[in-house]
Amino acid sequence: MDKIVLEGGIPLKGTVKVSGAKNAALPIVAACLLTGGDHRLTRVPHLKDIQTIKAIMSNMGVVFQEEEGVLHVNSDALREDEASYDLVKTMRASILLLGPLLSRLGSARISMPGGCAIGARPVNLHLKALAAMGVDMHLEGGYINAKVKRLKGTHIFFDIPTVTGTENVMMAAVKAEGQTILSNAAKEPEVQDLAEFLRGMGASIEGDGTDTIVVEGVESLRDAQHTIIPDRIETGTFMVAAVITRGDIIIDGCCPEHLSSVIEKLQSVGADVEPITGRIRVKGADSIESVDIKTMPFPGFPTDLQAQFMALMCIAKGSSIIKETVFENRFIHVSELKRMGADIEINGDQALVRGKDCLLAAPVMATDLRASASLILAGLVAKNGRTEVGRIYHLDRGYESLEEKFRGLGAHIWREKT
Ligand code: UD1
Repeated sequence: MDKIVLEGGIPLKGTVKVSGAKNAALPIVAACLLTGGDHRLTRVPHLKDIQTIKAIMSNMGVVFQEEEGVLHVNSDALREDEASYDLVKTMRASILLLGPLLSRLGSARISMPGGCAIGARPVNLHLKALAAMGVDMHLEGGYINAKVKRLKGTHIFFDIPTVTGTENVMMAAVKAEGQTILSNAAKEPEVQDLAEFLRGMGASIEGDGTDTIVVEGVESLRDAQHTIIPDRIETGTFMVAAVITRGDIIIDGCCPEHLSSVIEKLQSVGADVEPITGRIRVKGADSIESVDIKTMPFPGFPTDLQAQFMALMCIAKGSSIIKETVFENRFIHVSELKRMGADIEINGDQALVRGKDCLLAAPVMATDLRASASLILAGLVAKNGRTEVGRIYHLDRGYESLEEKFRGLGAHIWREKT
């Protein structure tokens, strides 16, 4: 198993290029199941989660080929409708295969994603919506067995705006009979990117980016070409890295308009954040001010950047309250940050972070994807030696070449075999 080793204390400098968004690429790759032909996807990040969805789809008969930065996906020979436990258990987003399989084959057998480190994360809203579209569903041996003759459009009201739930239903609806209205839908940029790809395939979708999405079912779809949006969570992680190390960096190839809430918070912390089209310059200040955050669905502060922002608040002046409203149990990084000297007190869904002068290097363990990133950020400023972050397979699920990118900005960071 690999670990990441860091020696902190170097202000980051230079330019870093952001990769394609994992959370946009996953549903878009899944959407290639909707129809055969040669789908051509650009800026698909090289990540463990993408390998996992490719492995599941390859088992179903889908062919993937990468040439000159373009991922070709061909589902002409789709023959299987099953996503097995051994792969689904490593990635909950496998549930995204349910909608497109039902649309294309009228059946799907997907292992039920279990709980995970950041809470129960049920899929009840996906299942309820698909049942309302006429899908007959039952759970057997840990698998969701779903069947439908023809998906029917209907009005779906999500109790909670769920990102993958919205995506799953959108994919199920594109060839359904009649109109599907999704109310209280997720507004995340990744939902919009999927809608854009589906429109390229010939789907009729309006309202993505708002909380009401209307899909008119069409008779047929065609293969399409698409460039995945830049990863806003990776961008935000580099922004925090610049501020925490009091560095000065340019993040290239990003979408500043997807990060308004984060830009506003980092400016309140005292950083100089200058968004330009496709780039953001972030310059940290000597004094890091404490700021409260509350995670919210888009366009609020993203839960996927909560852990990274908490690392920053650990060395801020004064105290900060961090409220997590999207997921339960999303404070598992706290005990590891405390091993580095952080002063954090958890009370239900909020954490009180009392800023300290510095964090101290220590061996720590990654517990989930974004928690791993927060430990790396803490390690970038930790004093008194080397920080070693274990279990970094979590990091490889969602960050492309993270150590190389940090090294390019001057950080002392490398990977070692344990
Ligand atoms: C997606 C992202 C994840 C991000 C999250 C919130 C992907 C692959 N993952 O996850 O990185 O942290 O959005 O921005 O895009 N819920 C239910 N029932 C359901 C579905 C969700 O109760 O059927 C609840 C969840 O427990 C959570 C909230 O709804 O409290 C939002 O979760 P959701 O938006 O569904 O997260 P994901 O789509 O799994």
